[in-house]
Amino acid sequence: MASAQTVLQTSISELPLFHRGKVRDVYEIDDEHLLLVATDRLSAFDVVLPTPIEHKGKVLTQLSAFWFDKLKNIVPNHCITADFEEMPEVVRRHEVLRGRSMLVRKAEVFPVECIVRGYLEGSGWKDYKTNKQVCGRALPPGLQHCDKLLNPIFTPATKAAQGHDDQVEFMQLIGHDTAAELKSISKEIYTDASEYVLTCGLIIADTKFEFGRDKKGNIMLVDEVLTPDSSRFWDASKYEPGHPQLSYDKQFVREYLETLDWDKTPPAPPLPQEVAEATSRRYLQAYEKLTGNQLEL
Ligand SMILES: Nc1ncnc2c1ncn2[C@@H]1O[C@H](COP(=O)(O)OP(=O)(O)O)[C@@H](O)[C@H]1O
Ligand SMILES: [Mg+2]
Repeated sequence: MASAQTVLQTSISELPLFHRGKVRDVYEIDDEHLLLVATDRLSAFDVVLPTPIEHKGKVLTQLSAFWFDKLKNIVPNHCITADFEEMPEVVRRHEVLRGRSMLVRKAEVFPVECIVRGYLEGSGWKDYKTNKQVCGRALPPGLQHCDKLLNPIFTPATKAAQGHDDQVEFMQLIGHDTAAELKSISKEIYTDASEYVLTCGLIIADTKFEFGRDKKGNIMLVDEVLTPDSSRFWDASKYEPGHPQLSYDKQFVREYLETLDWDKTPPAPPLPQEVAEATSRRYLQAYEKLTGNQLEL
């Protein structure tokens, strides 16, 4: 059930709505700036659920802010601030936006998702089971579910308008040189971040990045980065290939939904309180483990 603290949707009359995504409400501040507001919406199987997940929006925003700062020496990013006190006055008038908002530089976003996989899970595992390859890359025989890959692989996908992610040769979409650059940056972020995350006791099984160009044409990292919505985080100490790992994300939700007779088209059924609460706890734990701090609630 929605509590006073959860936010399923925002509506800020003074600001034009730029985009309402599955999770974020994006407002236009001016020609060059956007406000990304992470709500407590959760999507599963590409459908937004009616039940909010407490603290989720703040976790996504503050964790992304943490990573943008940490990764800024690898690649510039869109983040100006996620500190509510530093926001323009028109934002600060709305307490509902506190903690969950990020002021960013507007980008021309590349219509691709830059996915890096270090382990065999999700669609990668499905592909391997049937084809002994992942997105066209042949892999050695005999790999198990969740096995670590010898080298992380880059498996870009298009951002299809309908929300589903197709595998494509993304080179045609963005050009050879840009494609090579995004691949190299994505792998570097994954490798660097994985090293750090291991010191927090976690593994990044796979993750998705989005990039765009700023006004001057420079590439920058945009959207969210290394959150439980864009990544699979596993406990390093409990990691054991051969079966699914407990993941710091919406795994409880997916597992619950799989027990229902729901055809995965809208409308999605509500979540029982204990599933919503367990999911909220997982998101908070991810934040705490990765940053070493408690989230300001
Ligand atoms: N700096 C930016 N400039 C323009 N668009 C951005 C920027 N950062 C993120 N976005 C876009 O804002 C949207 C964020 O909302 P989200 O809920 O993730 O939407 P979606 O359902 O499309 O994934 C995404 O479409 C993302 O590509
Ligand atoms: Mg998104």
